[in-house]
Amino acid sequence: MVVARKSLAPIGVLLAGGLILSACGGDDDNAGASASPSSSASVPQIDAAAFTSDFALMKQLTGLASQGKGKIGVLLPDTTTSTRYVQYDAPYLKQAFETAGLSPDQFTIQNAQGSASTMQTQADAMISSGASVLLVDPLDPGSGAAIESKAEAAGAKVIDYDRLVTGGPADRYYVSFDNVKVGSLIGQGEVDCITAWNVSKPNILIMNGDPSDNNAKLFAQGYHSVLDPKFTDGSYVKVGEPAGTWTPSVAATTFQQQQTAHKNINAVVTPNDDNANAVISVLKSNKTPAKTFPTTGQDASLPGLQNILTGYQCGTVYKPIYLEAQAAAALALYLRAGVTPPTTLVNAKTTDTKIGKDIASVYTTPIWVTSENMNDTVVKDGAVTTEKLCAGAVASACTAAGIS
Ligand code: GAL
Repeated sequence: MVVARKSLAPIGVLLAGGLILSACGGDDDNAGASASPSSSASVPQIDAAAFTSDFALMKQLTGLASQGKGKIGVLLPDTTTSTRYVQYDAPYLKQAFETAGLSPDQFTIQNAQGSASTMQTQADAMISSGASVLLVDPLDPGSGAAIESKAEAAGAKVIDYDRLVTGGPADRYYVSFDNVKVGSLIGQGEVDCITAWNVSKPNILIMNGDPSDNNAKLFAQGYHSVLDPKFTDGSYVKVGEPAGTWTPSVAATTFQQQQTAHKNINAVVTPNDDNANAVISVLKSNKTPAKTFPTTGQDASLPGLQNILTGYQCGTVYKPIYLEAQAAAALALYLRAGVTPPTTLVNAKTTDTKIGKDIASVYTTPIWVTSENMNDTVVKDGAVTTEKLCAGAVASACTAAGIS
């Protein structure tokens, strides 16, 4: 069950004065397949902090949806590096578009199954079937930028979804969680866990995400900002930071090699639940006891949440994807209608270092989840069912965490 939660997504100053009269404009040089701005249309003032799990805010955008022209195309990267793309992004984007009143033939959501050339083919098909806005969650920045410049040349607007397409067109938008914040939550979670589990001499292996994903860089920036002072003052030791990956089997091999080379590793930092799960499988096969070896993660996956409850993972960054999906869908609807999105929605800027430009951005807020707040966050939100979470050996840990 999905429950609206004010504590997760507080209702901000939403449509305080109802709808305001249009301040349409912008992007005329790229009108292409998009609708021409209409000075008489009213522009809803959506607040990026006001999305809720019942998708209520999307109902405010039905006027924009009927004003727009062309399809919205969404390009997702894969189905293996995280369950999020199938489990959350695709269904929540669909729900957001439909709640705003788009019919199924006015949007399309595709997954490239890990292949950049498949993503380009999918983008080409979207453009030739009349897409006026593309949302791109790239496999790597180069292939993402190629898709985006081709789409803009055909008159479409483009939005980087979740991962920044470094080197993409300067006038694009970006929608994501605050990814440096994701990283600092992971770093602080590791620190708190090291204390709680009495790890007296932390020897930490840092296992980053795939270096071709700009998010992986931002996550690392976040956790390094918390951990580096501890490495510098000698309270923690950084044992190593091998090449990053989003592939769990690669993470398992890397961890085994590092453990063989450095027998003193007693903590891991990783920004991915599935990579953490690969590490934890190795720990379990080595008979490492619970609550002795801190690990971290991201994405609130089922194995990640179970590893937290059973004392093998300290916590995970929960990114309520329904926030990000609605923010992206809302932004796409403004652009499709040829309307400048309000500054209440476009609440941030992200520097694209490759082109030396700030990209207008929408950030939503991530949450650190441990056994203490799991019931009040992911469980209450319906991101996981208690049947699945508390199955088998996890049942008693669920009871201890107040999850029933
Ligand atoms: C990141 C994304 C995470 C996770 C990871 C692995 O870019 O923000 O949520 O999915 O990739 O795919």
